[in-house]
Amino acid sequence: MPEKFYVTTPIYYVNDVPHIGHAYTTIIADILARYHELKGAHTFFLTGTDEHGQKIEQAARSRGKTPAEYSDTISSTFRSLWDHFGIRYDRFIRTTDESHKVGVQKAFATMLAKGDIYKGEYVGHYCVSCETFFTETQITKDHNCPDCGKETQLLKEESYFFRLSAYQDRLLTWYDANEKCILPTSRKSEVVRFVEGGLDDLSISRTSFTWGIPLPVSVGDPKHVIYVWLDALMNYVTALGYGSHSENMDLWPADYHLIGKDILRFHTIFWPAFLMSLELPLPKHIAVHGWWTRDGTKMSKSRGNVVDPKKMADLYHLDSFRYFLVREVPFGQDGDFGQRALIDRINNDLGNDLGNLLNRLIGMSYKYFDGVIVSGQCEKYYSEELKRIQTVIGELDQLMVDIQINRYLEYLWRILSMGNKAIDTAKPWVRMKEGKEAEVQALLGFIANLLAKVALLLHPIMPEITLKMGRALKITLDATSFKTYVTEGQLLADFTIEKVPPLFPKIEAPLIAEASGGLSIAAP
Ligand code: MSP
Repeated sequence: MPEKFYVTTPIYYVNDVPHIGHAYTTIIADILARYHELKGAHTFFLTGTDEHGQKIEQAARSRGKTPAEYSDTISSTFRSLWDHFGIRYDRFIRTTDESHKVGVQKAFATMLAKGDIYKGEYVGHYCVSCETFFTETQITKDHNCPDCGKETQLLKEESYFFRLSAYQDRLLTWYDANEKCILPTSRKSEVVRFVEGGLDDLSISRTSFTWGIPLPVSVGDPKHVIYVWLDALMNYVTALGYGSHSENMDLWPADYHLIGKDILRFHTIFWPAFLMSLELPLPKHIAVHGWWTRDGTKMSKSRGNVVDPKKMADLYHLDSFRYFLVREVPFGQDGDFGQRALIDRINNDLGNDLGNLLNRLIGMSYKYFDGVIVSGQCEKYYSEELKRIQTVIGELDQLMVDIQINRYLEYLWRILSMGNKAIDTAKPWVRMKEGKEAEVQALLGFIANLLAKVALLLHPIMPEITLKMGRALKITLDATSFKTYVTEGQLLADFTIEKVPPLFPKIEAPLIAEASGGLSIAAP
């Protein structure tokens, strides 16, 4: 039985079109899924849209649409972008799916039967933008949301409550016993401190609007809809069939929930408590990334500086955009998006270090040996280097497990620099004049083997470009090749290299005009 691997993105609110933040999480999830697939796992990758709640109802109304019509439109914008990006999700869930609704109602009924839900009255503040309840002491002195700064509403309404307070100790025990349940681990202390401060019971139903999942009919209280975060978090199990047809529940628990730092508490406090109440296993890792700014400034519609991921990827090439996102910023930290930094990465890391190495290999192979690469020769001259490569490879898996993709890439680039250095040291043009053909053959065999391993290891991050490398090197990029050349460190058979055009043509200047203030302005 292959190992299973289940990864999720947050389900995105349909009050806005996709931006770089959404693309970032989705691309990382795609990278993890592809990586584990290459390692031979049975992977399941879930993404989707979060469509209920007051925020969406208001957004739809302000555009003169029903929430259902509006959700249909924006949800399909997300789906089309992921399809355009070649994101290999297995399920795109919508919280308006009937099977999801059934699962959420089942969860509510289960928690109620268990005594974890009771009816009361909620009096306090609510931020519609964050869909979050706040107490008097949590909001700012102007009655604004402590998280997003927007005005909060004062609510006084009948509500059902989840006994979150009862789960405080069990949550603390879970954090303590599972070192990497929250990644990066530095985020965990923040959560632990919060939970140690005491947990209030959580309001989990609303009566002042209707765009949500009604309580189960058996409860007999039709004016309540279920709080959007209980509804939304449940997607991670309803997508596997919880509550309807549980055919995929053996994929649970999730290996990774990828999320942004703003939704940390929902995922690390509410979600595990809900799961405990439902007596379901807890996720293995909740991996929390930082936020992107643009040219040092917060992105916002009013500033007109929101990065459109589609435009960037279409102009600079999707794979280069993917590479930039995960190479530029260590996972967990905030990052800044700028075209100059992207161009530097493309010209230097990708063009000089990677693309040129393949070009040089193709050029020399045809110049000296009609394109024939004799792979076996390289062991005689490069056994130390080959061993060192396998040692570096041995460290890569842990980096991927910890989602340190920037370091994973740094390590891969160490391998590439061994290749570039080997050419500079061997000086094949001199060796050929001296008649030392075997040495040059060994060098080219070494570079070809090195590039084959890099192509396989880079494939999850740059799926398209690496296919071109694979075509040149005559290997398929699949689990079998991964096992043979990466895990077992075997050498390629002799082959004739195929000429492919340069992988990363040099980019001289930003492809989108930039204003003097440094902010990019979208081209018309
Ligand atoms: N619907 C909820 C998630 C429910 S999951 C059960 C939600 N949706 S969202 O569309 O507002 O945000 C989705 C993700 O985008 C969050 O993880 C958030 O951190 C991320 N980002 C939003 N803006 C971002 C940046 N500027 N940079 C990086 N990520 C950002 O929250």
